[in-house]
Amino acid sequence: MPLVPMRQILDEAAKGGYGVGAFNVNNMEQIQAIMQAANDTNSPVIIQASRGALKYSKMIYLKKLMEAAAEEFPHIPVAMHLDHGNSLATCKEAIALGFTSVMMDGSLGEDGKTPNSYDDNVKVTLAVVEYAHPLGVTVEGELGCLGGIEDGHGAGLSNAQVQDHLTNPAQAEDFVAKTGLDALAVAIGTSHGAYKSGRKDPVTGEMLPPALAMERIHEIHKRMPNCHMVMHGSSSVPKELVDIINQYGGNMPDTFGIPIEQIQDGIKHGVRKVNVDTDSRLAITGAIRKVFAEKPEKFDPRDYLKPAREAAYEVYVKRMKAFGQAGHAGDYKPITLEDAKALYR
Ligand code: G3H
Ligand code: 13P
Ligand code: ZN
Repeated sequence: MPLVPMRQILDEAAKGGYGVGAFNVNNMEQIQAIMQAANDTNSPVIIQASRGALKYSKMIYLKKLMEAAAEEFPHIPVAMHLDHGNSLATCKEAIALGFTSVMMDGSLGEDGKTPNSYDDNVKVTLAVVEYAHPLGVTVEGELGCLGGIEDGHGAGLSNAQVQDHLTNPAQAEDFVAKTGLDALAVAIGTSHGAYKSGRKDPVTGEMLPPALAMERIHEIHKRMPNCHMVMHGSSSVPKELVDIINQYGGNMPDTFGIPIEQIQDGIKHGVRKVNVDTDSRLAITGAIRKVFAEKPEKFDPRDYLKPAREAAYEVYVKRMKAFGQAGHAGDYKPITLEDAKALYR
């Protein structure tokens, strides 16, 4: 099966009332783990690569690996998506490479750090839509800014500043109407990476999950029931994965991610794409640390990359079941970019 346009995966998810995990990848093991999980749970899936991932893998390698994934599992609808594109030029490059979907993150400037003006966000997102849709390629845009910073990407907003950059539902309506995008990433208080909260229980001193403005998602869904929303920064940062890292020589402070129940509430109210990267990173690192600690004599990369791939697989299976995409791979006949071109016309 060829890679399918992400728009179809989201349209079908909306019909079925479920969410679809969009998992970040940097290497073969992650792609294989995602596809095995999608196969075993019968799930449609979105595989995404950030600019950092494309640089790390030299672009062509990830593209070929994603094509291999689609070829090995022809019954699984899979979209290949650019995560956090920073300009029309970057999106064009991904489309030329064969990506079936791109994110134009116009919430930040081209430097991937400075919050953008609303007008500039509209302008650059519209330019990408006008370029991508005639080619059948899906476009995700973002309104509002996430907190945190991960490997140089993100505005590095503090918890307090994040509150000033949440998505405004009325503006979201205007943004969708002006740009004609396919999926809208919203800022509701999540952030990228493992350290999302900074909130402590005043009595026990224990970390609390970040306070999310779920009511903004509810309101956007009320205003635009057909708008596919995207939740970035949706790793749950499970304590058991952080504990494994620390048990085997890591040094991660107490932290908290996004509780699955809040993601499920989002899915009930129009969230169709759920971005998860950090949880897979945690699982992989813990598994590798365990091998290094328990079997220091080992030096064959397969001795630690295989358990790493298995640990990531477990995370993907759990998320696919929790988001509701499990069981839906065979619900529809996948379309091609050629078909999508006609639909946009
Ligand atoms: O956007 C955030 C994703 O977790 C990708 O992170 O830029 O380090 O590849 P990255
Ligand atoms: P996490 O860091 O929470 O996994 O978020 C990933 C993400 O939003 C990628 O775009
Ligand atoms: Zn993101």
